[in-house]
Amino acid sequence: MPNKLKLKIDGEYVEANQGDSVLDAAKAADKFIPSLCHVKGLSGVGSCRLCMVEVAGVPRPLPACTTPATEGMVISTVSEKLTKYRRMIMQLLLSERNHVCAVCVSNGNCELQDMATRLGVTHSEFPYRYPRLPVDASHPRFVLDHNRCILCTRCVRVCAEVEGANTWNVVKRGIHSMVAADLNQDWGESDSCTMCGKCVQSCPTGALAIKGKAVEEMTKHTDTVSRLAATRGGTR
Ligand code: FES
Repeated sequence: MPNKLKLKIDGEYVEANQGDSVLDAAKAADKFIPSLCHVKGLSGVGSCRLCMVEVAGVPRPLPACTTPATEGMVISTVSEKLTKYRRMIMQLLLSERNHVCAVCVSNGNCELQDMATRLGVTHSEFPYRYPRLPVDASHPRFVLDHNRCILCTRCVRVCAEVEGANTWNVVKRGIHSMVAADLNQDWGESDSCTMCGKCVQSCPTGALAIKGKAVEEMTKHTDTVSRLAATRGGTR
C-alpha cells in the first residue's frame, strides 16, 4: 500500500501512515504507551513527557506523541529505565500542585489518578509543594481549580484548534505557569468564551469541571472532542 511506513515496536513489525507519530503507530498496533497531554485530533505538544520511548540509535528517550514515525524505526516502549522515568514524572506531577483525590470532583473519573494507579504510583517521593492556588468560579457554567491543573494544555489546544475561540492561554513561566482566560482575567469576564465546554471535556483532571456536578457525575468525554476534531479535518 503506498505511503505506508514499516517500523518495529517492541520486536513486532507494525505499519503506520505517513504523518503518524510513534504514539499513533503504537496505538494502532494496540500497544500501550502512557500519555496525559495527548488527545487524538489535537496537535501534539509533548508537555507531560509520560510517553517517552526508546528509539534505536538515539541516545536519549523521545516523547512518542511528538516523534514522527519513520521507515525502519526500531522502538522500545517498555524497559526498566522507561518505567523508572515514567514513575518519576508521575511523582513530579503529583507533587507540583494539590492533587488530593478525596476532595476532588473528578475522583474516580480522573486520567491522572488512573495513570498513577496504572504506573503503580501511590505517593510522591519528592517533597509536595502545596502551593496556594486560586479557584476561578466566576463562569456561570464551569469552574477552574488551578490546584488540579497539570498544565497539559489540552484546554488551550481544543479551544484554539476545534472551537476556534482562543480563550485559553498559558501565562507566567516554569513552575509558576498557569492557564488563563483571555488577558489573564476571570473566566466569567471572558469575551471570547463561547461556553461550549470543550475545554472541560478535554481536561484530564478535576481542574476544569461543570458547576453543580457531584463526584460520580463529573465524567469527561474526550472521545467526543476527538470525533469533533476528525469531522473538522483533523488528521492526528
Ligand atoms: S503524551 Fe507525549 S508528552 Fe504527553
